[in-house]
Amino acid sequence: MAISKQFLSVLWVLFFCYCFSLFGENGVEASHEHYPRLESVTTSIIDKLYRTGYHFQPPQHWINDPNGPMYYNGVYHLFYQYNPYGAVWGNNIVWAHSVSTDMINWMPLKLAIFPSKPFDINGCWSGSATILPGNKPVILYTGIDPDNRQVQNIAFPKNLSDPYLTEWEKPDYNPIMEPIDGINAGSFRDPTTAWKGPDGLWRILVGSETGKRGEAILYRSKDFEHWVKANHPLHSSEGTGMWECPDFYPVSKRGTHGLDTSFNGEDVKHVLKVSLYDTKYEYYTVGRYMHENDVYVPDKTSADNSTGLRYDYGKFYASKTFFDDAKTRRILWAWMNESDSERDDISKGWAGVQAIPRTVWLDTNGKQLMQWPIAEVETLRRKQVDLDNKKLKKGDLVHIEGIIAPQADVEVEFDLPSLEKAEIFDPSWVNPQILCSQKEAHVEGSIGPFGLFVLASDGLDEYTAVFFRIFKAKDKHMALMCSDQSRSSLRTEVDKTTYGGFVDVDLKDGKLSLRTLIDRSIVESFGGGGITCITARVYPAIAVGTQARLYAFNYGSETVKISKLKAWSMINAQTLKELPSSDTVQMELENET
Ligand code: FRU
Repeated sequence: MAISKQFLSVLWVLFFCYCFSLFGENGVEASHEHYPRLESVTTSIIDKLYRTGYHFQPPQHWINDPNGPMYYNGVYHLFYQYNPYGAVWGNNIVWAHSVSTDMINWMPLKLAIFPSKPFDINGCWSGSATILPGNKPVILYTGIDPDNRQVQNIAFPKNLSDPYLTEWEKPDYNPIMEPIDGINAGSFRDPTTAWKGPDGLWRILVGSETGKRGEAILYRSKDFEHWVKANHPLHSSEGTGMWECPDFYPVSKRGTHGLDTSFNGEDVKHVLKVSLYDTKYEYYTVGRYMHENDVYVPDKTSADNSTGLRYDYGKFYASKTFFDDAKTRRILWAWMNESDSERDDISKGWAGVQAIPRTVWLDTNGKQLMQWPIAEVETLRRKQVDLDNKKLKKGDLVHIEGIIAPQADVEVEFDLPSLEKAEIFDPSWVNPQILCSQKEAHVEGSIGPFGLFVLASDGLDEYTAVFFRIFKAKDKHMALMCSDQSRSSLRTEVDKTTYGGFVDVDLKDGKLSLRTLIDRSIVESFGGGGITCITARVYPAIAVGTQARLYAFNYGSETVKISKLKAWSMINAQTLKELPSSDTVQMELENET
């Protein structure tokens, strides 16, 4: 009986999508479409309902890492790894380029860096931008040479008076760093933004490994053209494997403002982030950087391996930050990789999206980073619904109606009951992801599970659950945040891994917050004001389009209260033909917030 109900629902959605595809979103009949488009109903049609409305995504094909993000003369630049030939990663990967005045609405430009010279003929891989004195931007990137060696190259804008820096030139003196002196030519990539020491020398890191020891090789240069490898890496860690996309930057110990990458001093700590090729997860450490001898020592509170702190405990990789001096903040970009099967990526014709840019700063505890979606995303908020002072008793499920549930922004604040009732924490539960998979959303607890069911179907045949559980450990209370994808789709071929992270906040005031950005195939969540973040990519079969619902729930025995819930429908970000001025954007932002 249950199966036939699901089957009917799937048929209904396919029929709905079929009609939708024939008439298009603007109601115009597609009169000269070829029939082959309709051959794979489950992909080309439903695809429209999975493409993101407001997360960055090009019209088609494969994308991965964000590259060289920067703010230059009033314009934000996002370059990214792009395969112009298909929806899978390819050897001829290039740097695609888009510009924006708000990091939400984008104008696409032509490809910026693509294989054309011996030093990058087999691919233009990831890298970073630095703004040199005299306001001159420069890019360092990894090229793959004819022998498939990874080398580091430099590129300059062809015309500095072009406001969009459309064309980039690669001087013939490239490569500027080669895999010599024992460096493995297949593990030598992803140069960072440069920083300048008090001795006037520029420094960068290149990701690498020796054996299974991941390392960030340090180079120094006087003129940005000639680079000398330091005799020790800035940092390395045994057993972590290849370090991709290292990122190294200062954070202020006092306040949320961002700092220029070269800044150092008393009130500053440093962050080193690496992307682990072996696990496809990232971790970061917070530590102390001594300029004089280029030594970086992670704090004792930062584990220096794959068990370490993560920006995001879900699908979030190859991230990179930049300093936005227009708003004195540090911005984090990342690639959200796919959970759909490669076969379906190919038939959809696209794969990969970028996370909403996040502002990142050091928490007042000095141990962890905080992250929050940039305020500009709020300009897309439309119809708002509110739910205040709503008690959620055991088993309660509250339908949040009145917004477009598959494309929404939701902020909730929960009031917790007396923490005395919390379940006892077993100290052997060291891995939050495993704990979340054992205690999925339907496993009853005492304080929690409570949270949101997003992209849920009527009758809950499908849902993604983003929720908390509170535990009582030996000397403190602990919050666990989970994003449970186990029931996110009736389709069997999609990855439904459940993710989890501990939320290191003080629970004494009895409050816990959750924000979730829902965007068709994205569920991007921020727990405890942004101290724990989890991103999931989900491909429901029935909870799509008008069939998707949003609920708040509590499956714990103790009552929790929603003190405040605000949810907004989100309109689509625009693909622009020309950029509005940043003043216009600022005005819009002030009106919206
Ligand atoms: C990370 C990565 C980088 C590399 C790029 C190639 O996702 O593997 O190390 O430069 O992607 O596309």
